Amino acid sequence: MIPDVDNDSIVYLNGEHVRLGDAKVSVLDRGFVFGDGIYEVVPVYNGKPFRMAEHIARLQRSLNAIRIDTGYSDARWAQLFEDMVRRTQAATAPESGNVMIYLQVTRGVAKRDHAFPAGIAPTVFCMVSPFKRPTAAQREQGLATISLPDIRWLYCHIKSVSLLGNVLAKQAAVEAGVDEVIQFRDDFLSEGSSSNIWVVKNGVLLAPEPNHLILEGVRYRFIESLAQKSGIAFESRPVRRHEVETADELMLSSATKEILPIVTLDGRPVGQGTPGPVYRALRAAYDQTLEAL
Ligand code: PDD
Repeated sequence: MIPDVDNDSIVYLNGEHVRLGDAKVSVLDRGFVFGDGIYEVVPVYNGKPFRMAEHIARLQRSLNAIRIDTGYSDARWAQLFEDMVRRTQAATAPESGNVMIYLQVTRGVAKRDHAFPAGIAPTVFCMVSPFKRPTAAQREQGLATISLPDIRWLYCHIKSVSLLGNVLAKQAAVEAGVDEVIQFRDDFLSEGSSSNIWVVKNGVLLAPEPNHLILEGVRYRFIESLAQKSGIAFESRPVRRHEVETADELMLSSATKEILPIVTLDGRPVGQGTPGPVYRALRAAYDQTLEAL
C-alpha cells in the first residue's frame, strides 16, 4: 500500500493495464539506478487533454535528446493518453473533476553499466491521477517565493526524471515557508523548481528565451499567444536578476499551476504586492480558453 494514492487505480506499464498497487518495475531499471529517463505531465479538463499535441511533441524531443527509441508514433501516444483518460472516467464518478496524465519512459532494465545497453526495451509507464486546479486564494492572493542559485545541469530543456536539483530547490521553498523558488544562473533568471517564470516591467511581458537552461513549458507558447491576443507586448530574451527584483509583476506557469501571480520575492513585495493587471488579463484569457474546450 502506498499512502495517499488510489492503489486500485489502473495504470499502464509496458503494454499492460494493472492496478497501481500491483505495478512493479525491476530494481535494475535504469530510471531507478541512473535517473535515465524522461517524463511528461498533461493536464486534462473534463476528459479533454489540454495542448496534447504540444505535450507529445515535447515528449518526442526529450526521447530524441537522450536517444530512447520507443517506436511509438505521435498517434500512438495520443491513443494511449485518451484511452487512459477514458478508463479513469469509467472507473470514477464524472464529478470527480479534472485529472492529469503522468507518463514516464526509461531506457529499460539491464545489468548496471553506465553506457547504453544493447537490445533492451524501454520501460513505459502511464498513470492518471486527480488534479486540483489552483484555489481561489492562490489566484487572488498570489504566491510567495525565494530566490535560489540554479545548481542544475546544462540540459534543462530535456524533461528528465533526474530531478535532484529541482527536488532540492522545492524543498528549500517548503522549508522557507514559501510556495516556489525563482532560480538564477549567474545574473540571469532561469525558472522555478517546476514552473516557468514571467516578469512584467512597464507593461511588457518578459520571459527567458527557451534554450538549454530552462524547460520550455507547454504553457510558454500558449501564454505568448494569450499575450498577443490581449494586446500585451512580449519579449523572449535573457532577463537579469535586477529586472526580476524590480519587476512590476511576477507570475509562474505550469501544467498544474496554470498561471499564478507571485506577490513576494525574498520577503519583499513584488510591485504593489498584489496580483497586477497583466496577470489578470492573462488569467482571464487562460480561463476563457479552458471554458471553450
Ligand atoms: N513541471 N520548468 C520546469 C522545471 C518544470 O518542471 C515545469 C513543469 C515547467 C512548466 O512546464 P509545463 O508548462 O509544460 O507544465 C517548467 C511539471 C508540471 C512537473 O514536473 O510536475
